[in-house]
Amino acid sequence: MNYKFTEVDFENTSPLFKLEDALKGFLGFLLYNPFISLFNLEGDEDVLDFGCGGGAGAQYIAKKLNYNGSITCTDLSEYWINQAQKRLSRYKNVRCLQGDIRKLNIPDNAFDVISIVHVIHDIHPEQRESTVHSLAKKLRNSGRLFIYEPTRPSHGIAIEEIRTHMDKAGLKESRCIIKKSRYIGEYKREP
Ligand SMILES: C[S@@+](CC[C@H](N)C(=O)[O-])C[C@H]1O[C@@H](n2cnc3c(N)ncnc32)[C@H](O)[C@@H]1O
Repeated sequence: MNYKFTEVDFENTSPLFKLEDALKGFLGFLLYNPFISLFNLEGDEDVLDFGCGGGAGAQYIAKKLNYNGSITCTDLSEYWINQAQKRLSRYKNVRCLQGDIRKLNIPDNAFDVISIVHVIHDIHPEQRESTVHSLAKKLRNSGRLFIYEPTRPSHGIAIEEIRTHMDKAGLKESRCIIKKSRYIGEYKREP
């Protein structure tokens, strides 16, 4: 199947995207909670929300963490990381970092859980492998990476491509949920 990549300008976001984000702020539990419940968080984990956008999903993760847990949100877009910062300001142990995960000053083996919602398909195909490789390095040995991506050829990513990038980065799929136009996967380090 032919997958089409269309670059989205997240810095100059359309009003429709802004409206979608506002709605996700209120009704996002319908989208995020079933996904986040797969993490089985105990509360003391260090979590990375990669490509956090306006923090709509991160707020539901933050609610599940206690004082020993933390959430780091990263996004390439200055506009969206500022939105996330605002939305998450009431939560403790949250940091928002703008930039490319391959260059950000985050040590390796830093996270118990990495959450990715609707991000990899928006990255240029040539940048995906190195980005996933970098993400895998940020995961602790016992860590788990959860990914949720659309799989429509018109705007999405092929499941096989996700699996290939993960495999090359040393991550093995331990669980997956495949619906008509979306894929959810849980990955762990290869033993
Ligand atoms: C469709 S939005 C999803 C945002 C958020 N995960 C959510 O659930 O609302 C995609 C996000 O990925 C970010 N993004 C795109 N390429 C990225 C990259 N290489 N590194 C980090 N974030 C990126 C965009 O700026 C945008 O905020």
